[in-house]
Amino acid sequence: MSSVTILTGRVLSFAATPFDAVPEEAARLDAAVALEGGRIVARGSLADLRAAYPQAERRDHGDKLICAGFIDPHVHYPQTAMIASWGKRLIDWLNSYTFPEEMRFADPAYAARIAALYLDLTTAEGTTTMCSFCTIHPASVEAFFAEAQARGQRVVAGKTCMDRNAPEGLRDTAQSGYDDSKALLEAWHGVGRISYAITPRFSPTSTPEQLEAIGALWAEHPGCLMQTHLSEQTDEIAWVKELFPAARDYLDTYEQFGLLGANGLYGHAIHLEPRERDRLREVGAALVHCPTSNTFIGSGLFDMAGLMAEGQRIGLATDTGGGSSFSMLRTMAAAYEIGQLRGTPLHAAQLLWLATVGSAQALRMDDRIGNIAPGMEADLVVLDLASTPAIAQREAEAEDLWEAIFPTIMMGDDRAVAEVWIGGRRVRGA
Ligand code: GUN
Ligand code: ZN
Repeated sequence: MSSVTILTGRVLSFAATPFDAVPEEAARLDAAVALEGGRIVARGSLADLRAAYPQAERRDHGDKLICAGFIDPHVHYPQTAMIASWGKRLIDWLNSYTFPEEMRFADPAYAARIAALYLDLTTAEGTTTMCSFCTIHPASVEAFFAEAQARGQRVVAGKTCMDRNAPEGLRDTAQSGYDDSKALLEAWHGVGRISYAITPRFSPTSTPEQLEAIGALWAEHPGCLMQTHLSEQTDEIAWVKELFPAARDYLDTYEQFGLLGANGLYGHAIHLEPRERDRLREVGAALVHCPTSNTFIGSGLFDMAGLMAEGQRIGLATDTGGGSSFSMLRTMAAAYEIGQLRGTPLHAAQLLWLATVGSAQALRMDDRIGNIAPGMEADLVVLDLASTPAIAQREAEAEDLWEAIFPTIMMGDDRAVAEVWIGGRRVRGA
């Protein structure tokens, strides 16, 4: 029989959506959580859990916060080494920094090194699941999946398909994009904690023939996620109009090729037309807000409040390395700041919900990850809410839980991440 571990602290889970309810009332606090065999088996009072599991090992975290591991539903792990590249907007940034770096993933050894580095860096920040774009090279996907599998980590990723408007050496074809994606999907999807996402980069880098081929692949595997980019910058949208003159709007360049669906993840989605908002909501697609990226590349201010009120499904992501951070704490802070600029600040409960349950819902994995409840997978982060002198002195003045958490959201970094558990194994913390 596998052994049980009980963690004590302030165990935070969500019983409701803090965008529907009074934010603080959506959360639930327990004193302890019990893990066994990679899963959460119970949460409740310490007395109850000790009675149920008298043999359990106990780890006492005092008043630290224990919550579900952070989920980052839109990242580019191959952009790890060019994060924080200065001074360009989207298209020039891709051509100047991103594409040259992605070329290096033709070398499987380089891909393996960056995959391990990326997973080290994100584990240190408390992120336990992510959905990543890879490069056009199948080896970049193999490297990422192999590294995640060795760590027992639930991840989603896919081979980025692009057959135009990218340099020589970084283009596939409609046929090879389909064939390579299909082979990777068949080899990896559903193996352990690995899922495959069908991954056209964005419509400017795919010919209509390629979008059609990828749409056909998705129709053959509708249970897979499909990830792409949508309406990130106004220049990009104008370019899409030139490339697809018959399309009604940007979303239509996906929709007409079968690339709009309930399992679709659309990164950025800042400058949406009313028709696009309606269609995304009707089909139940997921939008992914990437706030540090949107300010870093100068893209615009995502309409979180308006889109949530419409009933869209929304996750929160770093978009590493267009995003300027690997940290979901920093990403929550940036989402707060963008909310402020729009006159709709987000509550700490809403921010934490987005980084856990909301992002799990975007990935359609909220039955397994993103919350603390019996039966869920044991991916957890333990946060020290007084990790630096500056945060500690503010936290000491807090009058409730949310005031205690908010300084860590705004000012916390990897020093706040006391422990990380992935699949019931402690992977960070003494
Ligand atoms: N649009 C197409 N590719 C990318 C990318 O790599 N990063 C961002 N932020 N936007 C994109
Ligand atoms: Zn992206």
